[in-house]
Amino acid sequence: MSMLTLHEVGRDFGGLPAVDSLSMAAEAGKITGLIGPNGAGKTTVVNMIAGLLKLSRGRVELDGQDVSTMEAQHLSHMGVSRTFQNIRLIKEASVLENVLAGFHRHETTSTLSSLLGLPSAFRERRALLRRSMDLLERFDMADLADWPAASLSYGHQRRIEMMRALATEPRLLLLDEPVAGMNDAEAYSLAEIFRDVAAQGVAILLIEHNMRFVRRLCDHVCVLASGRLISQGAAETVVNDPRVIEAYLGS
Ligand SMILES: Nc1ncnc2c1ncn2[C@@H]1O[C@H](COP(=O)(O)OP(=O)(O)O)[C@@H](O)[C@H]1O
Ligand SMILES: [Mg+2]
Repeated sequence: MSMLTLHEVGRDFGGLPAVDSLSMAAEAGKITGLIGPNGAGKTTVVNMIAGLLKLSRGRVELDGQDVSTMEAQHLSHMGVSRTFQNIRLIKEASVLENVLAGFHRHETTSTLSSLLGLPSAFRERRALLRRSMDLLERFDMADLADWPAASLSYGHQRRIEMMRALATEPRLLLLDEPVAGMNDAEAYSLAEIFRDVAAQGVAILLIEHNMRFVRRLCDHVCVLASGRLISQGAAETVVNDPRVIEAYLGS
C-alpha cells in the first residue's frame, strides 16, 4: 500500500477544473516528482493533499485511510508536512527560533505546566533545543543559529524552511519547488538531504522545474498538464514522452 494515494482527484476554480481526474501515488522511501508547465495545477495538488484546499471530487488516502476532508492541522498531526513555493518564515526571529517553531506538533506538555514553569516543560524545551541543533548541524547552519532569518541568503532561508518541515518527523513530505532560485551547488547539497530523508522511510512528493535535478533525484515522475496526468514513469521515460514534450513546447 502506498503512503499517499490520490483517486480521481479534482478541484474547480470558478467552475473550471484546475485539476481533474488525477490518480497517482507516492511511496514510502521514494522521491516522487510532480512536474508540468506553469499553471498545470501542481501547487493546487499539494494544497489539497495538505488540507489547505477542499477537493471538488475524488479521494486522498494516507496509508490507506481516507483523509480527503481533514483539516490541515489534523493532517500535520498525522505526519503530513510541506514547504511553500514562496518562503514563509518568521522573519524577525532567529534561525533557531524558526526551527523550534516547527516542533509545535510534538509538544505534549500542557500550556498550563509551561506557564507554571514545571520541570517537565523545561525538560521538553531542552530536548527540542537539542533536536533543533541536530537539524542545524545536519544542514550545516549551526553557526548561524542566532542570526535573524531575514538577514540570510535565499538558499539559507530555503534550508530553514526545510528544517521546519522536517522538525515534525513527517511520514509524507510535500516540497513545492524547494530549490527554485538556488545555484547548482546549493541545490545538490539539498538533494543529498532529500535522499537521506527518503532513505529513512519518508514519502517525498517533489514539485520541481529543473529537469536535470528531477532526473537525478526522482524515483518516479508524474507529469501534469492543464490539470491532468499526461504521463508517469521513470524520469528518463517521461522526458522522452511525446505528450510531455508537446505540453512543454506548447506552454
Ligand atoms: N485560489 C485560486 N483561485 C482561482 N484560481 C486558482 C487558485 N489557485 C490556482 N488557481 C488556478 O489554477 C490553475 C493551477 O494553478 P497552480 O496549481 O498554482 O499551478 P502550478 O503550481 O502548476 O503552476 C491556474 O490556472 C491558476 O490560475
Ligand atoms: Mg506552483
